[in-house]
Amino acid sequence: MTALEGRTALITGVSGAIGGQLARVFGREGATVIGTYRTRRAAAESALASIPAERRALLQAGFGGGDSARELWRDALAAGPVDTVVVNAAAMAPTPLIGDDDEWDAGWQQSLQVNVVAASTLMRESARVFAERGSGSIIAISSWAAQQGSRIPDLGAYGASKAALRNFAQTLARAYARSGVRVYTIAPGVVDGGMGTADLDPDEVRAVAEGLTMGRHVEVSEIAELAAFLASDRCPSLTGSTIDLNGASYIR
Ligand SMILES: NC(=O)c1ccc[n+]([C@@H]2O[C@H](COP(=O)([O-])OP(=O)(O)OC[C@H]3O[C@@H](n4cnc5c(N)ncnc54)[C@H](OP(=O)(O)O)[C@@H]3O)[C@@H](O)[C@H]2O)c1
Repeated sequence: MTALEGRTALITGVSGAIGGQLARVFGREGATVIGTYRTRRAAAESALASIPAERRALLQAGFGGGDSARELWRDALAAGPVDTVVVNAAAMAPTPLIGDDDEWDAGWQQSLQVNVVAASTLMRESARVFAERGSGSIIAISSWAAQQGSRIPDLGAYGASKAALRNFAQTLARAYARSGVRVYTIAPGVVDGGMGTADLDPDEVRAVAEGLTMGRHVEVSEIAELAAFLASDRCPSLTGSTIDLNGASYIR
C-alpha cells in the first residue's frame, strides 16, 4: 500500500515547477490529485499525466481577487472529500525600492492578494471542514525569504508575503491542534526551477548554485517528497512547524 492511497489532495499551481512535481509525487503515492492552474493549462495537464484518469482532476483558479479561493474550495469539494491542501501557487511580483510607484503599488497588492489573502482564505475554508471531520492536513509552501527577508532588493513584498503566510499557518495550527487538523510550512531555499531560475541564463544559474552552501540548488523533488511525507500524517506533532529546506544555506 502506498502512503497516500485513498487520500485526496488539492494542490494549487500544478502548472509550475514545484506544483508539477508535487502532483507527480502525490499521484505516485496513491493520492487522488486535484490540481489547479491559472494560465498554463498544458503544463498542468502534463504534470497530472502520469496519474490514472480516475485519480486526477484539473481546475482553473486565478487568485486575483473576489471570491476565488472560496470558489476553488467549493469546486474541489464538489468531487468528494479532500484530505490535504497544498498551498503552493504564488506570485513573485517585483516591488523595486528605487523606481516606479505604480509598479511598487501593484507589486504589493498582487503579492498580498495572491500569496496571503487568497492562500489564507483557502486554508481557513479547508481547516473548518477538516475540523468538523476530525482530520486533514494543510501544507503551506513559504520560502526562506520569510525568515530573513529577500536577498533580491526588488522582492521585498514577495518575502513579506511569504512571512505572512507562514505566520497565518502557525495561528491555524494552534487553533485546530485538538481537532485533528495538521498545518505545516515548508520553507525552501533557492530551487532548481520555477521562480528559482526564472529569467536567468545557464551561466547565472550556475553562479547562483556556486554561492549556495551545498554548491547546488534545492531540487523540486525534495519539496514534493517532504510534502508527501507530511501529508501522510506519520508525524502529526510536526504541526505548526516550519521545515527549512535550504541545504544549510540558512540555519536558524
Ligand atoms: N522556485 C523557488 O526557488 C522557490 C523558493 C522558495 C519558495 N518557493 C515557493 O514555491 C511555490 C511554487 O513556486 P515555483 O517556483 O514552482 O513557481 P512557478 O513555477 O512560477 O509556479 C507558480 C504557480 O503559481 C501559479 N500562479 C501564479 N500567479 C497566480 C495567481 N494570481 N492565481 C493563481 N495561481 C497563480 C502559476 O499558475 P500559471 O503558471 O498557470 O499561471 C503556477 O502554477 C511558491 O509558493 C513559491 O513562493 C519557490
